[in-house]
Amino acid sequence: MPGARLALSGITRTYQRGDVPVPVLHGVDLEIGEGERVSIMGRSGSGKSTLLNIIGCLDAPTSGRYLFGDEDVAGFDDDRLSMLRRTSIGFVFQSFHLLSGLTVVENVGLPMEYAHVSPRARHARAVELLELVGLAHRHDHRPNELSGGERQRVAIARSLANEPRLLLADEPTGALDSRAQDVILSLFETVHTRFGTTMVVVTHDERVAHALGDRVLHMSDGRFA
Ligand SMILES: Nc1ncnc2c1ncn2[C@@H]1O[C@H](COP(=O)(O)OP(=O)(O)OP(=O)(O)O)[C@@H](O)[C@H]1O
Ligand SMILES: [Mg+2]
Repeated sequence: MPGARLALSGITRTYQRGDVPVPVLHGVDLEIGEGERVSIMGRSGSGKSTLLNIIGCLDAPTSGRYLFGDEDVAGFDDDRLSMLRRTSIGFVFQSFHLLSGLTVVENVGLPMEYAHVSPRARHARAVELLELVGLAHRHDHRPNELSGGERQRVAIARSLANEPRLLLADEPTGALDSRAQDVILSLFETVHTRFGTTMVVVTHDERVAHALGDRVLHMSDGRFA
């Protein structure tokens, strides 16, 4: 399955704090081609995570149009958004978001459990993905027995569980030292070469932005500069 093609136009997002509307995105236009890699930089508070959450269907825009392939997802309700998320989108976060009560292989298999894949197939694919990220030998460890870089590799394996057409990462190297960062950068490279996944990465780090992006975009005050 090729990477997803995305087209966002006039995307706004206004949060509501009590009675006070807080406008954060002010009309974002963005087109991303199949298998393209885009990095997003910008000051803290400029709206990067807000936009990434919309792109990842974790949140819906207040207004605007969002085409995921040929489908306009801006009008999707929560159920349809979570279905699209489950089948087509992988997410990697700065703080890994692994479940501490599950082993490594169970964490990687979790998205497949939500997608009703059988336990046996789940386990086999999780082990395969752990091999891809170089952590098969750690499959029965708990996340707290791993280094930060290793945890992020598990999180990347998990993000690939359902063969996403779109991979999103919010500060994926923010919590890592430079050696662990390099491992993660080359892993994203491997994933892209192997699967042709469309990728959008938010980062504060210029080096990471250029390593992971065919294009580097700059956000400022809720729009692209
Ligand atoms: N749930 C929310 N309710 C109200 N305001 C919010 C909410 N989430 C984010 N904001 C506000 O929206 C603005 C943009 O936040 P966002 O997290 O998108 O920034 P960011 O560019 O990702 O920043 P950082 O680089 O620090 O992660 C901030 O001013 C933030 O306070
Ligand atoms: Mg953020």
